Amino acid sequence: MKLDDPVTTLYPPTGRTRPLRNLYLEQPLEPENWDGSLFLYSNFVTSLDGRIALDAPTAGASGVPPHTANPRDWRLFQELAAQAGVLITSGRYLRQFAAGTAQDVLPVGSDEAFADLLAWRRAQNLPPQPDVAVVSASLDFDVPEALVESRQRILVLTSAHAPRDRRQAHEARGCQVVVCDQGATVTGAGIYRALEAAGYRRAYSVTGPQILRLLLADGVLHALFLTQALRMLGGEAYDTLVEGDVLADAPAFELRTLFHDPYAPEAASQLLACYDRR
Ligand SMILES: NC(=O)c1ccc[n+]([C@@H]2O[C@H](COP(=O)([O-])OP(=O)(O)OC[C@H]3O[C@@H](n4cnc5c(N)ncnc54)[C@H](OP(=O)(O)O)[C@@H]3O)[C@@H](O)[C@H]2O)c1
Repeated sequence: MKLDDPVTTLYPPTGRTRPLRNLYLEQPLEPENWDGSLFLYSNFVTSLDGRIALDAPTAGASGVPPHTANPRDWRLFQELAAQAGVLITSGRYLRQFAAGTAQDVLPVGSDEAFADLLAWRRAQNLPPQPDVAVVSASLDFDVPEALVESRQRILVLTSAHAPRDRRQAHEARGCQVVVCDQGATVTGAGIYRALEAAGYRRAYSVTGPQILRLLLADGVLHALFLTQALRMLGGEAYDTLVEGDVLADAPAFELRTLFHDPYAPEAASQLLACYDRR
């Protein structure tokens, strides 16, 4: 992986180049004057036409397409994960993982190429791995053995309507089940409250368009890191960043940084943006 090939800073408009390696580790994660409360951020890679996933006909599941997934974006994903106290994932992700159709996002830095990120965590006096929070209404998933063995704290964030036997099964496996909301499903505010009460300062959502919508609807997503691969894919319209009803207040964002990366052949080239919720 050639991580020292440069990216060009387009915003703020300095025009300077710098290596891709540690791009997101070296720029402050929180915006200036952050008040120290739980900072919740997410990251996606999309095509130029906004697709985050396409159906995989053989697997019967959707996933990040090979024309947008690329090692340089993946490095940045890992740099963001390395800085987190907790990773937010979903029941659907763990079902895909069990079926062998998910991109392997947990634990952080399992590949030797990311050993420096685990060393970085040690140097910051962080636990070896971020904890994991699984958002699920059905609780119909199994926690992978690798997670149980890695001794991360595993939270299961659900609603009061969750099936009792599944709650007990997750607790028996060592997970901490947290009822975030009294309704049938979990809200973004419920996720935020639960993670803040658990003492986290940085939460990284690695889920897809349903959870992103919950976080946006309740105004608890603070920053979005968005890699845009300059390729057109087509496909179904629902495979976009946000799924569900129209967001009432059309959440607005400010551009914080923008880089051009011409060295990701899979993606043709790509734009690396960070947006702060206004
Ligand atoms: N390109 C990218 O950067 C990118 C990033 C992330 C994901 N993706 C793709 O997006 C697709 C979906 O990802 P995902 O499943 O991780 O994300 P998701 O669509 O945000 O999560 C869906 C799951 O979250 C749970 N959920 C959703 N709303 C809920 C609520 N209100 N209350 C309680 N639980 C709720 C449900 O779990 P239960 O069914 O267990 O109740 C649901 O199945 C995948 O194809 C993935 O590859 C792409």
